Amino acid sequence: MNLSKANQQAFESALEDFYKDQSPQNLYLPIQYLLDLGGKRIRPFLTLMAGEAYGVSAKDAMGAAMAVEVFHNFTLMHDDIMDKARLRRGKLTVHEKWDVNTAILSGDAMLIKAYQSLESYPTDVFQKLTRLLSKTAIEVCEGQQHDIDFETRPNTSEEEYIEMIRLKTAVLVGCALQMGAIISRASEEDQQAIYDFGIQLGLAFQLQDDYLDTFGDQDTFGKKIGGDILEGKKTILYHLALKTTNESQCETLQYLLGGNIQMDEEEKIRKVKALFVATGAHSATGDLIQHHSYLADIELEKLTISEDQKNRFRDLKDWLMQRSY
Ligand code: IPE
Ligand code: IPE
Ligand code: MG
Ligand code: MG
Ligand code: MG
Repeated sequence: MNLSKANQQAFESALEDFYKDQSPQNLYLPIQYLLDLGGKRIRPFLTLMAGEAYGVSAKDAMGAAMAVEVFHNFTLMHDDIMDKARLRRGKLTVHEKWDVNTAILSGDAMLIKAYQSLESYPTDVFQKLTRLLSKTAIEVCEGQQHDIDFETRPNTSEEEYIEMIRLKTAVLVGCALQMGAIISRASEEDQQAIYDFGIQLGLAFQLQDDYLDTFGDQDTFGKKIGGDILEGKKTILYHLALKTTNESQCETLQYLLGGNIQMDEEEKIRKVKALFVATGAHSATGDLIQHHSYLADIELEKLTISEDQKNRFRDLKDWLMQRSY
């Protein structure tokens, strides 16, 4: 992957400092457990890359990078309770390994810690960063609520779905990038363009996540394949399938994704998957990912950074679009 080794090492060593002097263990150990499971660390790298693109060292952008990754992991800890997920990054989720109360409180502590990671910035920068993080955090809550509401709402549209994933996922990717630009005191225009690049990248990223949740490989992806189907999630595959289903396929799909049926889990997953393939939703998702990747390119062009720096973002985007985990 095209993430600078130096940035990776710098981030992991900043995490070591983040873990120091933590008591009580039952609050902090689950936090360390989840963060140490790793993950791709995309958001903090985007913050560091954006900082570097405008001339700020990784060291100076590290507080913000830490804030976005800790915030991201907080959302995952609570998301896994909400989605009844047993696996995260190939290991047990926090509420399964400990219990739900632990995952709630450790998650809460992570949210606070994310804000604390911003405290050492100069007052004017601190104010801009916290304002952006708060706007982002409330939008993520809104997106998560829509995601849950969609499980039981019969008529969700593709447009509503895209707005839901913009809120639950894309805004944090935009925030991660804009934070790097804020710290480097980039112009308002560049801040907006890099944020908008993040939105398109984040949309493509969540579309890919939906795809992998159904068509990925469990050992590589680290989450239960078919988890979205079992939870009755209205993912992009569902919305694109509805565009081409005939009446009977449509009824079957809604019946299978509706909560109240007695069927072996693996059989249900198999049947829904087959419908996604038969309706072409499987390949149409790939096309939509490409579309948002293209829209991301357009935003990238607006940035007043060097071509070399733009290439770093292009490479990262291309890597993300081809990811299998
Ligand atoms: C998972 O995010 C949640 C989504 C928004 C799809 P990532 O896929 O970035 O998770 P990690 O941090 O790499 O595990
Ligand atoms: C992730 O959505 C959004 C947030 C965590 C805010 P998902 O529920 O699709 O994420 P995964 O698939 O569990 O990582
Ligand atoms: Mg979820
Ligand atoms: Mg989830
Ligand atoms: Mg998912």
